[in-house]
Amino acid sequence: MRSLCFIIITLACIVSQSLYASERNNPIVIAHRGASGYLPEHTLEAKTLAYAMGADYIEQDLVLSKDNHLIVMHDIYLDEVTDVASKFPDRAREDGHFYTIDFTLPELKQLRVTGPFVSVLGKKVPKYGKRFPLWHSQFQLATFEEELELIQGLNRSLGYNTGIYPEIKKPYFHAQEGRDISRMVLQTLKRYGYTKPASKVYLQSFDAEELQRIHSELLPSMNMDIPLVQLIAETDWEEKRIKRAGQWHNYDYDWMRTPQGLQKIADYAVGIGPWYPMLVTEEGTEDTLLTEARKLGLQVHPYTFRADPLQIPDAYRDFEEFIGLYVEQLQVDGLFTDHPDKVRSYLSTRGTQRPLEVSP
Ligand code: G3P
Ligand code: CA
Repeated sequence: MRSLCFIIITLACIVSQSLYASERNNPIVIAHRGASGYLPEHTLEAKTLAYAMGADYIEQDLVLSKDNHLIVMHDIYLDEVTDVASKFPDRAREDGHFYTIDFTLPELKQLRVTGPFVSVLGKKVPKYGKRFPLWHSQFQLATFEEELELIQGLNRSLGYNTGIYPEIKKPYFHAQEGRDISRMVLQTLKRYGYTKPASKVYLQSFDAEELQRIHSELLPSMNMDIPLVQLIAETDWEEKRIKRAGQWHNYDYDWMRTPQGLQKIADYAVGIGPWYPMLVTEEGTEDTLLTEARKLGLQVHPYTFRADPLQIPDAYRDFEEFIGLYVEQLQVDGLFTDHPDKVRSYLSTRGTQRPLEVSP
């Protein structure tokens, strides 16, 4: 009888331990623009490195070229990551920007890509001081197709099942230019087999009305069903502009952070992508945005965790403490990071690191 009790207690301990382990938070690692902390963002080289560092998902920001190719880059402008100003000096618009949509793919392929830079007193300086040096080596812009073939090729040759996390950039701008970028993104995803909830893809956008259109019109009409993520911005970032009474205004994002707003988001998206400070109150406790999202079963994937010296908020001793708050206390479901190796390494020290998924 005593040995039976011992066996039952031992089994109960094992079960509760494994339950504890499985209940511990095990967020997905999303390589933000690739391993962009180490190589120029959105280049195939940065994506390859992110893959090798064990990212669960790799992000693609998408804009259109003049000849309707989807180009993987963060801005609708070429200004801050290429040598467009010296190669095509007379192709800026009146506002001084060089727009990707004004260039054909053969022209875009002539550009040399580097890490993001800013102009200080007429001199180009890197946005992040300690990263890969500006203009070193040789990098190019890539198309969405080229990147999908890279990731699917690595999944084939290495046997993992790394996912993709495309973002449709500024649909309102593309619509103004007479283009339906969302339809083109979905057509490409379909061509490459990303059509079902289990396809290892999240499709994200800052544009709520466009995500609603994708959910209720485009996906059903294309016989697709993939998970959508609503990105949340601060209103003054100008992520979306709308015209009212002939004047352009910033789209107001505040509704998304209310319980009613989240309820609306839950009708078309499986998750939200908030800026990381939006999840914490000034006192350092959990913001209602997170609490309410959880109640609705929405996944929460905050952006962007950077390990560069000036990118870690003062409140934290180091990068580990910074992401520790989001992983352990706030229990987010995923993190966008420029440093996927460091997030992976943090997760592995806890002993519950998600194993890399293998190809089905
Ligand atoms: O898409 C998540 C994160 O990338 C949003 O910010 O401006 O880097 O695209 P952004
Ligand atoms: Ca993005």
